[in-house]
Amino acid sequence: MIDPEFLKAEAKKHDISEIEMEALTLAIDGDSTSEIAKKLEVKPDAVRQRLSKVYQKFQVKGSGPVKLRSLLQMLISRYQEQNHQESTVDDSPSNISETKNNSPSEDLWEKPDVSVFYGRDEELKQLEELVAKEKAPLICLYGLPGIGKSYLVGKLVEQIKRDFDYVIWRSLSNRNQFSEVLEDLLRFIGSEITQAQKQTDEGISELIEHLRKHRCLIVLDNTEEIIREQDIYRRIKQGYETYEILIQRIGREQHKSCLLISSREKPGDIDILESSTRAVHSLKINGLETKDAKKILNEKGLAGENNFNNLIEYYRGNPLLLNLVSGIIKDIFNKDVCKFMNEGTLTIQRNWKTILTELFQRLSKLETEVIKIIENTEKPVSFMDLRQNIDNKYTTSELQEAIQSLQARSLIEKKDKNEVLYTLQPMVKKYAMEYYS
Ligand SMILES: Nc1ncnc2c1ncn2[C@@H]1O[C@H](COP(=O)(O)OP(=O)(O)O)[C@@H](O)[C@H]1O
Ligand SMILES: [Mg+2]
Repeated sequence: MIDPEFLKAEAKKHDISEIEMEALTLAIDGDSTSEIAKKLEVKPDAVRQRLSKVYQKFQVKGSGPVKLRSLLQMLISRYQEQNHQESTVDDSPSNISETKNNSPSEDLWEKPDVSVFYGRDEELKQLEELVAKEKAPLICLYGLPGIGKSYLVGKLVEQIKRDFDYVIWRSLSNRNQFSEVLEDLLRFIGSEITQAQKQTDEGISELIEHLRKHRCLIVLDNTEEIIREQDIYRRIKQGYETYEILIQRIGREQHKSCLLISSREKPGDIDILESSTRAVHSLKINGLETKDAKKILNEKGLAGENNFNNLIEYYRGNPLLLNLVSGIIKDIFNKDVCKFMNEGTLTIQRNWKTILTELFQRLSKLETEVIKIIENTEKPVSFMDLRQNIDNKYTTSELQEAIQSLQARSLIEKKDKNEVLYTLQPMVKKYAMEYYS
């Protein structure tokens, strides 16, 4: 992350207003224009305007996401320059070699700031074990929007980055053309790349060569951006197939680096790799544990603690949703969770509706049918219930694949007692009723 104090000082020098600063900070955190719009509750156009003012004030040229990158590069070099000036005063040689050994070259400007971070001990332990001990070449974290994937990976990166020579974070919601991302990766590791290498296997081979020589940690966040819509196999989008080659090669070949993928949906390629190589892993991310989710509600100053558990259970510990709903409880229910719960009608925030609409629109026809049946049934449903209710034109194996895919999208929950049963979590169910009515 850019040092917040330094950023503030630079913003002041360039006359950046408070609302422009809000948009800029979120953009630096890796949020897309639409995500910023949702968080600030303004139209995407307003976000674009604010950011464009920022670029003007910093005199950054270029277009679209390139501007953000140019601005970041500019800030980084200024920061380094400033630090260099400060440190040259008393840099003893022993100090220099010590810092060199312990700090990797890093490009983490798109990583979220995780200075406020609760829980996740289990996940962090498991991931550290995979990365540090097992030297897993490829790990995919997937889960619903807002569940805390980017935060978790951000925290993990902070904890393990010293074991690496190079650490780079790219959010595919900022820019996702393969040639640009590959170019970024190669340039960061210090390779000169020719025009011809950008799109081709040659560029990937060059990268893999580096991954063999150096221990590199690459994070690709928001990978759902390059996954096809309405595809039960969640394949990589047409025009982005080179990512598939990259993922497959990193997963299968020998090297000493690690690629961490974070995505709303588990990409089909990961399914294939996981079943064919033991080294590739995926981890479904669920909400925060109750005790940790409570910290969010406490931090927001909410009252009515005896109802915290119910609220957290309803939102399945999703930290984004808990943050959103806390805002409503504060503004409309005088911070009292009991009053909010007594209303009986647990609200679905506008932002969450937009997110769920996006998720529903990405479903294939058969997946949509399955969701409708589960939504329409009071009790959890079994596979046989689904088979009986679904159109006969779909085969049993198609139905099995649809269920697997809905799990890979975290949209259905499996209740595994004596018999496997499927349900929707309350927030998804409630919106499905509205969406499909
Ligand atoms: N472990 C955590 N502790 C505290 N807050 C969290 C945690 N994880 C997520 N959050 C909050 O929830 C929001 C959404 O998390 P994020 O990691 O961006 O979700 P995702 O990447 O899964 O969409 C964050 O902006 C942050 O406010
Ligand atoms: Mg994220």
